Amino acid sequence: MLEKGLFLYYTFLVYDLGEFFLYKDLVSLMIRRPYKITVVNKKTNKRSIVNADADCPSEGPGELGSVLSELINAGFTDIDVPHDCGGHLSCSSCAAIVTGELSKATPREEELDMIDLLKETEEKRLMCQICPSGQSDITVVIPAKNELK
Ligand code: FES
Repeated sequence: MLEKGLFLYYTFLVYDLGEFFLYKDLVSLMIRRPYKITVVNKKTNKRSIVNADADCPSEGPGELGSVLSELINAGFTDIDVPHDCGGHLSCSSCAAIVTGELSKATPREEELDMIDLLKETEEKRLMCQICPSGQSDITVVIPAKNELK
């Protein structure tokens, strides 16, 4: 009788541990924030998809984990993704139409000042300044040219 009780006890213990590890894996999957960046480049007529992870933001030109740094780290060249000032917020060449969830929905005043220099400012954001939150996939439409006023 005691052996049967111990067997049942250990069976439940193993079951509980298994459930715990399954739960832990599920939680870690929910916390990780991998997302995709779909890039539509109107200059080169290329469409690409890049895998990124908001929990492991890429260092590179611009803010840590910015769209620009993620794309450069994924192998995009200067021609694919223009960034004349190297992500120092002083050129507007990286302006693009970005849809999806961003960590800071409202652009900073400095970013707005640079966007104001463009002829067409509608919906554009600077790729070197915006950082996806990882809550959803995003789409980046790079214009054929960003013309200044
Ligand atoms: S690369 Fe110059 S402002 Fe973004």
